Amino acid sequence: MDAQEIRRRVAEIRWHHSIDLGHGIITPGQDNSSRKLQRLGLPESLIGKTVLDVGAWDGFFSFEAERRGAKRVLATDSYSWNGAHDWGDKRGFELARKVLGSKVEDQDIDVLELSPERVGGFDLVLFLGVLYHMKHPLLAVERVASVTRELAIVETAVDMLSCRRPAMAFYAADEMAGDATNWCGPNPQAVIGMLKVAGFKRVEMVAGLRPLWFRLARALYFKRKRGFGFWSFARSDRIVVHAWK
Ligand SMILES: C[S@@+](CC[C@H](N)C(=O)[O-])C[C@H]1O[C@@H](n2cnc3c(N)ncnc32)[C@H](O)[C@@H]1O
Repeated sequence: MDAQEIRRRVAEIRWHHSIDLGHGIITPGQDNSSRKLQRLGLPESLIGKTVLDVGAWDGFFSFEAERRGAKRVLATDSYSWNGAHDWGDKRGFELARKVLGSKVEDQDIDVLELSPERVGGFDLVLFLGVLYHMKHPLLAVERVASVTRELAIVETAVDMLSCRRPAMAFYAADEMAGDATNWCGPNPQAVIGMLKVAGFKRVEMVAGLRPLWFRLARALYFKRKRGFGFWSFARSDRIVVHAWK
């Protein structure tokens, strides 16, 4: 595929991730994928590792795991890939895989269907930006644990930050960012607690809460840029947790 054809096909797709496809082409995703990557603490070398990327969408993190040497990467998703919503579809993942010459595998499967029988076990499981979309968060964490052999990296939105005990907001409607697919906002203590209950032995927050000024500036940015409710963002943040088996 030449650069002109890649540009033409990129323009037809609604992207989530910003993926460098070469030829000076970066997919116009709404997600600042490179900045998220910096917070993850993803091992520099994944040589010889097997990696499962749960909720992979356009596959930025799957392709990054492959680039870091993983011997096998499986990207899974269901909601955005089925194209039934206004979230886009699987064409971004498929086009990026083709242009990058990637061998990342794919499987359409719901988080709650993950099991060793269905997908096998993986050295590293990426669970990025998915937990707060779960109506049954503890069950989802248990499913993730069931297919993790060594390490799960969990990146998630968090809420209820002033509560010191494990607590979780329940979004019955679209009060979090006007998005009815956001179901829960656990606080960091609840994220850590759920991972321990699910069987992870060591759980560490590797990227924690940002200062209040940062959260306020972020809320203002999203209100102006995307029209999101100021307070739903100001009282929430995002964290990254490493959970070891
Ligand atoms: C905010 S995006 C995160 C995408 C990517 N992991 C990242 O961090 O940039 C949430 C992803 O989770 C997927 N998702 C939501 N609910 C799901 C479910 N029940 N089963 C599988 N995937 C789901 C969506 O389709 C979407 O691709």
